[in-house]
Amino acid sequence: MKIGVVGAGNIGGTLGAKWAAAGHEVVFGVRDPQKSSAVDRVAAMAGEVRLGTSAEAIAHGEVVVFAVHGAAVEALVDANAAALDGSVVIDASNNMRGASRHALDHLRERVPAARLFRAFNTLGWENFAEPMFDGVKADLFFCGDEEERATVERLIADVGLEPIYLGGTSEVDLVEGMTNMGFALSMRRQMGRRIAFKVLGI
Ligand SMILES: NC(=O)c1ccc[n+]([C@@H]2O[C@H](COP(=O)([O-])OP(=O)(O)OC[C@H]3O[C@@H](n4cnc5c(N)ncnc54)[C@H](OP(=O)(O)O)[C@@H]3O)[C@@H](O)[C@H]2O)c1
Repeated sequence: MKIGVVGAGNIGGTLGAKWAAAGHEVVFGVRDPQKSSAVDRVAAMAGEVRLGTSAEAIAHGEVVVFAVHGAAVEALVDANAAALDGSVVIDASNNMRGASRHALDHLRERVPAARLFRAFNTLGWENFAEPMFDGVKADLFFCGDEEERATVERLIADVGLEPIYLGGTSEVDLVEGMTNMGFALSMRRQMGRRIAFKVLGI
């Protein structure tokens, strides 16, 4: 799959490296590809990876993942709307001080033909780097447009996580609830960053 990862930091760099190792073609987008702090990190990655501008990453991606400061996402969507329309777009960013933590509403308005997902925003990056907990695979809760669900499930599985589909984008508050639970346990209950969730059933 051709994946554009906008942002090559903790989240983008961790996810993109896993996808490249799994055989996907990854282009990372940053503000200045020559001066980015991600130059050495991307050069050391295995597989088909390249560092470029955000526009290059978005133009490359059949799937585009936003993994930048949450407040930067809307402007990136506006500047690249034509290239994004029709793509599978995954919003992994958290706009902590914005009116909405996710950009799905903005995306739906500006890129109506894109297939939208909210995923990879609920857990700390360390848990994407190492998704196994004492032999148990962590779950990743996500929502998005049913027709491309299998595509996103594959990408979640390629990171090493178990995908748990919560439904269409109308279920985004459930995903945000998992983020809230993660923050509550990790920070307020001081359980640390190496925590994740598992659905049990028989
Ligand atoms: N850290 C976590 O554990 C975690 C967990 C879940 C969700 N998130 C969310 O994921 C997003 C990314 O977090 P992070 O920890 O990965 O941040 P980070 O380590 O600071 O990385 C941000 C990346 O985005 C790039 N960037 C910044 N502004 C950009 C712009 N306008 N256009 C293109 N690229 C830009 C930066 O590269 P340049 O500076 O070179 O442009 C950098 O590679 C945030 O919204 C955060 O809330 C983080």
